[in-house]
Amino acid sequence: MSIYLDSAATTQLDPEVIKAMTDFMNDSFGNPSATHSFGRKAKNKVETCRREIAAHFGAQPSEIIFTSCGTESDNMTIRCAIDDLGVTRIISSEIEHKAVLSTVKVLCADKIQVDYVKVNEFGEVDLAHLEELLAGSDKKTLVTLMHANNEIGTILPMKKVGDLCKTYKAYFHSDTVQTVGHFPLNFEEMGVHFTACSAHKIHGPQGVGFLYLNKKIGLNSMLIGGGQERGLRAGTENMIGITGLHKSIELAYKTLDEDRAYITEIREYMKGKLIAQFGDQIRFNGSTTDYLYTVLSVSFPNNENNALLTFKLDMKGIAVSGGSACNSGASQGSHVIRGIYENASDYVPLRFSFSKHTSKQEIDTVMEALTELVELNVPA
Ligand SMILES: Cc1ncc(COP(=O)(O)O)c(C=O)c1O
Repeated sequence: MSIYLDSAATTQLDPEVIKAMTDFMNDSFGNPSATHSFGRKAKNKVETCRREIAAHFGAQPSEIIFTSCGTESDNMTIRCAIDDLGVTRIISSEIEHKAVLSTVKVLCADKIQVDYVKVNEFGEVDLAHLEELLAGSDKKTLVTLMHANNEIGTILPMKKVGDLCKTYKAYFHSDTVQTVGHFPLNFEEMGVHFTACSAHKIHGPQGVGFLYLNKKIGLNSMLIGGGQERGLRAGTENMIGITGLHKSIELAYKTLDEDRAYITEIREYMKGKLIAQFGDQIRFNGSTTDYLYTVLSVSFPNNENNALLTFKLDMKGIAVSGGSACNSGASQGSHVIRGIYENASDYVPLRFSFSKHTSKQEIDTVMEALTELVELNVPA
């Protein structure tokens, strides 16, 4: 038996994505920078992908820069905002993905002021505090706050943050890795200057994504080399990956409404079963009003048994995450749970994350395993 409930970490490749990539590999291998017919064919492909991807987000093709992953997109934004835009202050939160949190910590060690906006126990950003921070300084500021938290699913009110950034003339970056392909998004309308996407979260290949860079903003390439991506990212384009990214975004938006309804039903089904089985002995993490429907984060009481739950479920062929996949192996537990609860050590958080392939039968099997494995009311 094998059940995969870790789609926020990565998703299974869609057969249509595999087909698009293999068709491309069989048909074409030119370097898009070459001027001969092989190169022109590749160039045409990459620009078609860019144009069609941009259209999904109300963006112009020139605003989409292909990158190697969400992490690179986040890194480039923060690094280039400091180096090229003269940003001397960053406002972020303690519960960002490490692609942002660690980048901010490393890059801002001494020369850049960093302020962390308050978040409540649901992981919701305190907008009044954000405004206070924005109003309190004349420094050129970048606000970087993720659209949906990958561990607990809480969603940021993008438009409200975008409006605040506009009022106080701050740049606004949002890591949209968990929301691209799961929600209709119009970056211009949201008032965001930079966003990030990663194909492997939406049934596309690992190792490819994009950075949305609003046309009013001029950055330099983080990588030094050739003039690819209109001088914004040196290095020969990952043509196969871009083909897969393009197909995965096309498919995600084609069936968005039905997939969203289906996955939401799966999430509610599991939530209902968890409540019926464990009642108030467990705690659901994240916002209850504005949340990512692919993620259900639950905290079980911390004890020696429950501390090993992800491992014990894995032994039964059930893949779940104890937080972010990028953190697995880290001994300190989830920085997100620590960021929202004072008594974080009382809890063992498990993240169940779903896709269009998850079935109710699988949830039933996972519930049987949890019923057998979870221990309640055992002191830590
Ligand atoms: C919110 C968020 N940002 C960034 C990343 C990193 O994306 P990638 O794996 O493409 O570097 C992830 C992946 O876990 C994520 O969930």
